[in-house]
Amino acid sequence: MKILVTGATGYIGGSVAAKLLAAGHQIIGLTRSEEGASRLRAAGIEPLSGSLTSLRLLAEAARGVDAVVNAANSDDPFVVEAILPALEGTGKAFIQTSGSSIIADRGAGEASDLVFHEDTPFKPLPERQGRLAVEQLVLSYGQRGVRSCVVRPTLIYGQGLGLHRHSIQVPRMLNLAIAKGKALHIGRGENIWSHVHIEDMANLYLLMLEKAPPGSLFYAENGECSMRMIAAAISRVLGYGGGTESWPMDDALSEWGISAQATFASNSRVNAHKARKMLDWQPSGPALIDDIENGSYRELLRAEGKLPG
Ligand SMILES: NC(=O)c1ccc[n+]([C@@H]2O[C@H](COP(=O)([O-])OP(=O)(O)OC[C@H]3O[C@@H](n4cnc5c(N)ncnc54)[C@H](OP(=O)(O)O)[C@@H]3O)[C@@H](O)[C@H]2O)c1
Repeated sequence: MKILVTGATGYIGGSVAAKLLAAGHQIIGLTRSEEGASRLRAAGIEPLSGSLTSLRLLAEAARGVDAVVNAANSDDPFVVEAILPALEGTGKAFIQTSGSSIIADRGAGEASDLVFHEDTPFKPLPERQGRLAVEQLVLSYGQRGVRSCVVRPTLIYGQGLGLHRHSIQVPRMLNLAIAKGKALHIGRGENIWSHVHIEDMANLYLLMLEKAPPGSLFYAENGECSMRMIAAAISRVLGYGGGTESWPMDDALSEWGISAQATFASNSRVNAHKARKMLDWQPSGPALIDDIENGSYRELLRAEGKLPG
């Protein structure tokens, strides 16, 4: 298949593009920069130079491919409003990258018992209402001749397969620990996020392209842990002995902005039984804690000269 990937230079889109390429597909990758275009070309991906505001270009490109993966921005309504009508009635696949922060709470470092699946009703917090509206528009095209589907990744970790090698969350906690000389979590750090390894994530896109029914929604996870557990693993890999400390919410907000509250202090617990059952998705990547202590994050620290000893 010929597949258009937005975000092809990014962490998720780049990994998906690499996985699809390796599976024998032809990839056209959107990028805004000259450098992105030449790096994509070197990786065997045909660059499409433009931005998410190049709506006519994107609609035209969508008409010329067999499927579209939208992985540049989960919250942008204009892109889906431009591409989906161009696919209407064609039966082509369209995969929208959303995220499980759509069900996140204001945990403030405390644990929640709630574990969501695709049919669990919820009302997103104000900052995620737009994302839900984008999802709903995408899913509605399942009734209009598009094999449209949505995936909600959780906290993604591990080394990416494309140009952008690492996600935001774990590296940010690692760098914070290095800067402060101690591993921190916000509040008590008992808040829990489900997580998924990037390679398993990329495999899920491949399966969705092959067999997801029109209008389907999937969570993606292969485990969960609290922010305190992540901080403790960071403490161990940095040679701080495994101890962690609390970071007051006000300090976190002033350094990290609203992501402190929305991501690092919240809960986002889901299960991905549906993807396992319906798509036969079998995540097999390394566990997050092990990947921090012994895997790609240890490797990243070593490469950046930040590993003690
Ligand atoms: N990483 C996670 O754990 C995670 C989990 C769930 C959901 N998400 C969501 O998934 C989306 C992608 O995340 P990511 O981690 O892959 O981000 P990323 O590594 O920053 O990649 C995003 C890519 O999108 C492209 N892009 C951004 N703005 C664009 C624009 N205006 N026009 C054209 N291209 C644009 C950029 O490509 P160029 O610079 O080459 O143009 C960039 O390489 C985000 O909305 C994120 O919130 C991420």
